[in-house]
Amino acid sequence: MLNPKIKIAIAGVGTVGKGLIDLLLKYKNKQTKIEITAIASRRKQEFKGGIFRNTVFFSDAKKLLKFHNYDILVELIGGEKGVSKDIVFNALREKKNVVTANKALVSKFWNQLHSLMEKNNCLLKYEAAVAGGIPIIKVIDEFLLSNKITKIYGILNGTSNYILSNMLSYNKDFKDILSEAQRLGYAESNPKFDIDGTDTAHKLSILSSLAFECYNNVSKIDNEGIENVDLQDLEIADSLGYKIKLLGITELNNKNINNFVYPCLLSKDSFIAKIDGVYNGIVVESNFCKKSCFVGEGAGAHPTATSVLSDIISLSKKRKNCFKQSFKFSYQETSLQSRFGSYYLRFTTYDKPGVISGIANQFKTFNISMKSMLQKETEIGNSKDATIVITTHNCFESNMMKALKKINRLNFIRKKTVYFRIENFK
Ligand SMILES: NC(=O)c1ccc[n+]([C@@H]2O[C@H](COP(=O)([O-])OP(=O)(O)OC[C@H]3O[C@@H](n4cnc5c(N)ncnc54)[C@H](OP(=O)(O)O)[C@@H]3O)[C@@H](O)[C@H]2O)c1
Repeated sequence: MLNPKIKIAIAGVGTVGKGLIDLLLKYKNKQTKIEITAIASRRKQEFKGGIFRNTVFFSDAKKLLKFHNYDILVELIGGEKGVSKDIVFNALREKKNVVTANKALVSKFWNQLHSLMEKNNCLLKYEAAVAGGIPIIKVIDEFLLSNKITKIYGILNGTSNYILSNMLSYNKDFKDILSEAQRLGYAESNPKFDIDGTDTAHKLSILSSLAFECYNNVSKIDNEGIENVDLQDLEIADSLGYKIKLLGITELNNKNINNFVYPCLLSKDSFIAKIDGVYNGIVVESNFCKKSCFVGEGAGAHPTATSVLSDIISLSKKRKNCFKQSFKFSYQETSLQSRFGSYYLRFTTYDKPGVISGIANQFKTFNISMKSMLQKETEIGNSKDATIVITTHNCFESNMMKALKKINRLNFIRKKTVYFRIENFK
């Protein structure tokens, strides 16, 4: 049964909010009539068009706490606390449905939000919170319901992907490309969460919680960013047949869940490695569909607003909300120390005899075996340094960290050893 008319209240008219209004002005679907009953915009701006005929305007979204004439609250302010949190929780308490793009809020308050939804038989939808224009939430929550998902991994942050891709393409350092990304609007003036992996961790927490029906607290996700990725490593990785990408990885491992965020080496032939620029890419592995791959714009006004509008339309089509219990399993979240995989290591050493055997001795002690090695000389002033790059076969992260701690203390080591994990995704 179709709902003839749905009333929405929009909180926040910034990048995504403007995109949504643009889409609503152009949206012509006779099946779902959307009426904007309220808009809360802190910034003074003009809203022209017939769709605003019955709209009440507020300059502070707080006013929505006492406004009741809507079916769906559309929260597009952002942030895990403050007014966005207040109005979302208030709406759910009032048994209203909510659509949001707010990954920070959803990942942090997953349990409380789901409890409220269950108690009040209402829904919060958040397609736009993960990978903007890729409908990955619907894929996990609807399309793959008959499958058992075993692993999800991918590039979930367009800003960091843009930086890593362009450092290599234009032979420029991290800082140069970051400034360029900010100038072009691909990175925010404060890009901390994009580059330190927090944004990816927020999104991974949502994907993992949804796929494995168990809350995966974002604060427990081991999380490394791209701030320390050096152009030199991108170039060496390239010459070895790899690209470096910031990945979010969540996988079931018996009764454990591995949730990791880190920059890692990927074979250039793999699906994910081919995704460059601001694009996002996600792979979902499941028992019947095997490997489902998605690529698309991960952010931006229109792709993100498309996800928001699709949630609004899907809510309007449900006469009665059905809530899917979302935290029925419990798994132990593992730490990075338990990772079993291969590594890329770049040693900067004095160029003298005994270096390789010194490294090899520590490898032997910690049960690490080398896969490949290359050596380059670098002249610094009058002294000669050696750059030694080693890739390894699979070993435990705990062993690798112990070996590196010992190696970094050896007297021929000139700089702290750089390491990246290698993922053998196809
Ligand atoms: N941008 C993207 O591509 C993207 C992609 C996926 C998800 N998201 C998520 O979407 C949400 C919105 O992001 P955005 O990029 O659109 O942010 P934004 O451009 O900063 O927009 C947020 C808007 O909310 C307004 N606002 C703040 N407090 C308010 C209040 N009390 N009352 C009324 N309005 C208020 C801000 O006003 P001022 O203009 O005065 O600051 C701003 O215009 C965030 O949760 C974000 O994580 C964004």
